[in-house]
Amino acid sequence: MVSNTISTKQAIELENKYGAHNYHPLPVVLNRGEGVYVWDVEGKRYYDFLSAYSAVNQGHCHPKIIDALKTQADKLTLTSRAFFNDILGEYEQKVTSFFGFDKVLPMNSGAEAVETAIKLCRKYAYEKKGIPENEAEIIVCKNNFHGRTTTIISFSNDPDARKNFGPYTAGFIKIEYDNLKALEDALNSSKNIAGFLVEPIQGEAGVYVPTDGYLAKAKELCEQHNVLFLADEVQTGIARTGNLLAVNYEDVIPDILILGKALSGGVYPVSAVLANDDIMEVIKPGQHGSTFGGNPLAAAVAIASLEVIEDEKLAENAFKLGNLFRAEIQKLVDASSLLKQVRGKGLLNAIVINDSEDSSTAWDICLKLRDNGLLAKPTHGNIIRFAPPLVMNEEQLLDCVSIIKKTFKEFEK
Ligand SMILES: Cc1ncc(COP(=O)(O)O)c(C=O)c1O
Repeated sequence: MVSNTISTKQAIELENKYGAHNYHPLPVVLNRGEGVYVWDVEGKRYYDFLSAYSAVNQGHCHPKIIDALKTQADKLTLTSRAFFNDILGEYEQKVTSFFGFDKVLPMNSGAEAVETAIKLCRKYAYEKKGIPENEAEIIVCKNNFHGRTTTIISFSNDPDARKNFGPYTAGFIKIEYDNLKALEDALNSSKNIAGFLVEPIQGEAGVYVPTDGYLAKAKELCEQHNVLFLADEVQTGIARTGNLLAVNYEDVIPDILILGKALSGGVYPVSAVLANDDIMEVIKPGQHGSTFGGNPLAAAVAIASLEVIEDEKLAENAFKLGNLFRAEIQKLVDASSLLKQVRGKGLLNAIVINDSEDSSTAWDICLKLRDNGLLAKPTHGNIIRFAPPLVMNEEQLLDCVSIIKKTFKEFEK
């Protein structure tokens, strides 16, 4: 079925000519999505095994979310926060009770939510803890990925993300991820530590899962030092890892929770920062905001997206299918010299290719996977992330496993 008048070649040429080259997309041009599938402009169907970096957890164009979007779009889309609207409060009640916090601060992108959390953490440190103004420090981890703003890239150690974007924002201490001694030393290094910002699984770094107990112990250390624990669950949250939040595996309740991506099922940019009153009350009118943050369309879409997570038991499904996926791919790893490891939690997984970081092997495998009907993308050189929509069923997952196995066999020849 040819479903569009533009060809793959034409679409890529247009983007290359008129768009900034700030991404390196796999050469495939999509124009339709439904559930776990996407279609290209020539009508070929693929399994989506990236889910827009874990934003499309609820599946492409979920009818309930699209219906909420359309209904709200016909009524009211934007008021700004200069006025109240009749749906933001309902969303705030939903999202806070869903995740167990007193209050939410609504934003749009993940990076904006991280920025918001940093501001909240600093303000709390000055106003409630008495850290001298401008001296607050936040501990972050090496190989983090929290977004692309100037402050956030200031504490990245990825040269592509950082180089020639300085001068950088001060006030961050970088430690090794999954290293409790490093955290303890950093907490002891200064009286001005305001917070510890951490991804419960490092997604962009290559789905790096920390040692069991790391998060719980890190939270305990933060409590002992009266330091806020900030969990960036933009990628890991909202059922992706087989639990509503990845921190749930260790019964950790963050002081500040950062969400984005799947909060809208990939339908609209919606992000959020959640905290209890004691923390959130340091932000007063005029001190932080966004024209679009908490707009009626976002609120309607986010309510529907959370309902889908709950109604369709997507965390349970991700947990079950994730175990099956890793067990199947482990057999492939055991049998292949091309593969080093499969790792992950729930349906956030990665395979590590047995080749040098700067080799094109992972990219070439992704091209072959595409040819065989499955879309995935390398992250950090020789690692391929596998993160399908959570609405996948077992039969579809096994179909994907056979595509992956077949592709690797072809590749090894
Ligand atoms: C953990 C984490 N934080 C923040 C972000 C930034 O989100 P956004 O791209 O919506 O700004 C991402 C995006 O991949 C992420 O994985």
